[in-house]
Amino acid sequence: MDAPLIRSAEPSDAAAISALFGTVGTFEGTLQLPDMPVASRLEFLQKIDTQAPKLVAVAGDAVVGMAGMHSMQPSLRRSHVRGLGIGIAPAWQGQGLGLELMERLLDWADNWGGVLRIELHVHADNERAIALYRSLGFAEEGRHRGYALKNGRYVDSLSMARLHPSPPRIVG
Ligand SMILES: CC(C)(COP(=O)(O)OP(=O)(O)OC[C@H]1O[C@@H](n2cnc3c(N)ncnc32)[C@H](O)[C@@H]1OP(=O)(O)O)[C@@H](O)C(=O)NCCC(=O)NCCS
Repeated sequence: MDAPLIRSAEPSDAAAISALFGTVGTFEGTLQLPDMPVASRLEFLQKIDTQAPKLVAVAGDAVVGMAGMHSMQPSLRRSHVRGLGIGIAPAWQGQGLGLELMERLLDWADNWGGVLRIELHVHADNERAIALYRSLGFAEEGRHRGYALKNGRYVDSLSMARLHPSPPRIVG
């Protein structure tokens, strides 16, 4: 299989991204639900946020990975912060695609977007995601008890955040 093409998500990708986030093996780690109509996620996915990138990884006709940030509008005082979400299709997990997407987002945040803090929630039992985030400098900031229903049980979540390792300075 050729490596997936990574590019910006376009509004026309919304249905394919939505299908990815409804896939067994992907939705469980997120707050998405099984067996929901794709249309239930379209409005959110078609929204354009000019303050944050959304990336897709495309293989053939399918979106096999998606990672994006969202801004904290309308709070000007949180304009240095972005939230982050990611999902990879089961067949492509564990092959470095999540890492590649995350590195692309972090480059945008650190070097182009003026982002100082990136924050996310992850289910406390999602070892793979937690390992990926830790390897990229995210640190745990707190634990939320019984945060979300997951396959018949309420699971804790961790809030994690990464602060810019060397915030930009004025040159010259
Ligand atoms: C979590 C997820 C985004 C990781 O992406 P991925 O493409 O599978 O991960 P990668 O192959 O890029 O691996 C990156 C790192 O994750 C960790 N990792 C990968 N596979 C792992 C496993 N089986 N167990 C523990 N850690 C693992 C490692 O730290 C790895 O780095 P390394 O290969 O240098 O050791 C992906 O598996 C996924 O979408 N899962 C379902 C949805 C989800 O949980 N989203 C996150 C919501 S917070």
